Amino acid sequence: MPGFFLFSAAMAPTNTGSPRLSPIIAGCMKWGEWGAGFSTSQYVDMIRRCIDLGVTTFDHADIYGHYTTEAAFGEALKEEPSLRSQIQLITKCGICMVTPNRPDHKIKHYNTSTEHIIRSAERSLKNLHTDYVDVLLIHRPDPLMDPHEIAEAFTQLKNAGKVRHFGVSNFNPSQVSMLHALFPVEINQVEISLRHSEALYNGVLDQSAQLGIMPQSWSPLGGGQIHAEADDEQGRKIHAMSEILAEKYGARFDQILLAWLLQHPAGIIPVVGTTRVDRIRDAMLARAIKMTREEWFMLLRAATGHEVP
Ligand SMILES: NC(=O)c1ccc[n+]([C@@H]2O[C@H](COP(=O)([O-])OP(=O)(O)OC[C@H]3O[C@@H](n4cnc5c(N)ncnc54)[C@H](OP(=O)(O)O)[C@@H]3O)[C@@H](O)[C@H]2O)c1
Repeated sequence: MPGFFLFSAAMAPTNTGSPRLSPIIAGCMKWGEWGAGFSTSQYVDMIRRCIDLGVTTFDHADIYGHYTTEAAFGEALKEEPSLRSQIQLITKCGICMVTPNRPDHKIKHYNTSTEHIIRSAERSLKNLHTDYVDVLLIHRPDPLMDPHEIAEAFTQLKNAGKVRHFGVSNFNPSQVSMLHALFPVEINQVEISLRHSEALYNGVLDQSAQLGIMPQSWSPLGGGQIHAEADDEQGRKIHAMSEILAEKYGARFDQILLAWLLQHPAGIIPVVGTTRVDRIRDAMLARAIKMTREEWFMLLRAATGHEVP
């Protein structure tokens, strides 16, 4: 991971060792109730096949599947305990959803208090049938967040050996800086794709490169909205341009979209949301595609509708 040890000694104490995550991360948001609804044996099979392909990191959040997907995945680890040491688990906390599974929530809100973060992380450990997670992220910036509370929770979880690495998601640079001054932020998971390329300009990627924070892109294919049937002009243009490059590189169009992200010097790690092994394999193979600088800008032009100024 580029620049991962660049953390300045003048700032907060560093975590020991960088997270060793796979170059493509399998997002599990749609593996359970919010999508494929895998059975335990299907989870076991998917996890095994991902490991075989070199995709060893799995992205979760407490809320996925209305708070059910971690536990469904955890059943697979319970059934095949040998899988745990071969994989890395990311999970997130801080969003409180209104669902029959959380009858005490009256309104969707965020909670980044020390107590909530610790309670949520401990519940994730139980659901996932593990005694540690590799990475814990604060899912969304909370307008009421107190960085001291987050740092305190992270410190306690780290000292207890329950979480190895810490980061944030959807944080802007000033929010990252505020927390980073107290506790090293190692990851910022944000939406980045040709559909949503704001991170190229809003300072998130610049800050990641500067501080050695790993940028991860969620919805790297725009949540599946960039495909042949895209019914809007931006989608059609992105698709048309990526098909031209796909032909040149002997690839699939979605591999071109991932290659566009992977080519960014900040070292963006895509969190792919597919429920299909063939598409996970394609994602890994996309790493071999090196497009020219002009082709990279042609895709950007297709996405924005105009050339750079
Ligand atoms: N931190 C956050 O706030 C946040 C927010 C959202 C998501 N996430 C994470 O990011 C992960 C990925 O998000 P995502 O699911 O939106 O990502 P995505 O990879 O952009 O989209 C995946 C969707 O696209 C479909 N797809 C993939 N390739 C396709 C193709 N060639 N043609 C047509 N459809 C295609 C997939 O269907 P198939 O299953 O059929 O392949 C799936 O429904 C999630 O699982 C989650 O872990 C994080």
